Amino acid sequence: MGLMFSIPGSRLAARSGILDLMDDLGRAMTTDPGMRMLGGGNPAHIPEVDAVWRARMTELMADGNALERMLGNYDPPRGNPHFLKSLADCLNSALGWKLGPENLAVTAGGQTAFFYLFNLLAGEMPQGGRSRILLPLVPEYIGYANQGVGPDLFVGCPAMIENLPDNEFKYRVDFTAVEAALEARDIAAICVSRPTNPTGNVLTDDEIAKLSLLAREYGIPLIIDNAYGLPFPGAIFTDASPVWADHIILTLSLSKLGLPGTRTGVVIAEPKITEAIAAMTSVTGLANTNTGQQIVLPLLANGEILRLSREVIRPFYEERSRKAHGWLAEAFEGQDCWSVHRTEGSFFLWLRLEDLPLTTLELYERLKLRKVLVVPGEHFFFGLKEDWPHRHECLRLNYAGPETVVREALGIIADEVRALRSGTLA
Ligand SMILES: Cc1ncc(COP(=O)(O)O)c(C=O)c1O
Repeated sequence: MGLMFSIPGSRLAARSGILDLMDDLGRAMTTDPGMRMLGGGNPAHIPEVDAVWRARMTELMADGNALERMLGNYDPPRGNPHFLKSLADCLNSALGWKLGPENLAVTAGGQTAFFYLFNLLAGEMPQGGRSRILLPLVPEYIGYANQGVGPDLFVGCPAMIENLPDNEFKYRVDFTAVEAALEARDIAAICVSRPTNPTGNVLTDDEIAKLSLLAREYGIPLIIDNAYGLPFPGAIFTDASPVWADHIILTLSLSKLGLPGTRTGVVIAEPKITEAIAAMTSVTGLANTNTGQQIVLPLLANGEILRLSREVIRPFYEERSRKAHGWLAEAFEGQDCWSVHRTEGSFFLWLRLEDLPLTTLELYERLKLRKVLVVPGEHFFFGLKEDWPHRHECLRLNYAGPETVVREALGIIADEVRALRSGTLA
């Protein structure tokens, strides 16, 4: 018999949407630069932000043995104590929270934070049975889908679709479905990304307040994935307030600020959770990467990270979102049956193509042949009991890349769809 993998091992090592996405993305950014990259969630290279990283690296190199300490030492598993203190102070002064370093734990990116959190809270329980993570608004972030060490980790509630003028739509939380799921199943935690990846939706303060209340009532945590949110990187274009409370687990990341290569995420939660996260870091990786923490350390203390988010990053993505909507409308002019989710944050267009003669997984393959990389919507619909035809009609398009590339790629997508609909393609 050949080499066999364990059941959990096979589950984690299986081909998955996130593996395809990251593989496509990584190739486009390294060995296949001709690919028009509207695929994975790489942030933009904003010159003013890149200049800050360069200046910080120069400072670190000039500062005594700071570089050697950063490269040559392990941090404690919870994170660098100076970073934890500075981040807590920064959030407290910006948002009036009362966090201490005991409420924080660093992870190797937000992705790892979710792997730890989901498997910490859900799965096989000591009292018997399995508990699950409730996703109140599906489609939800592709990266969660395959993170369970055990099977069947998610219960999802399909979003309600509100059609809007000008080829736009918006998803809303179906609270009747959420409450029914909380009643019917053993739910370990509620989880949302805000802004939502893949759609650019931002759950309103009212929706968050309702979810928070439900979580409290059921005695479970509400996990809010703040990868694109406030106060940094601040890719949020509506009036949404950041929230934290004892029963809320908030995750932050340095990736969408422009530092995905440093793999730095942070979990903000009650100490019992952050202690567990630190313990899991020690088991899986000993410690975290130091570089991201060292790069942003003084920017937390002097508030520069908040200024950059407010004055540079948010305006950049907001303006780009407006332009991308314009290019999309231009490209699809004259065609019916297309619409796009209202973009309230993040850096994605969530394009809906009704009445396509093929699935978006097939369309993704065709577009790849034309050197346009997108993410097919199917991967974002998981945890659902019933098949939902809507899952075959959406594409996620990252508009953070160079303007000419994004515009050209949107033109090719519209051209391919036009040809498919008119039957002029094989
Ligand atoms: C919603 C969301 N959460 C978490 C992550 C994980 O990012 P990272 O591990 O780079 O922090 C991403 C990355 O795209 C994301 O979009």
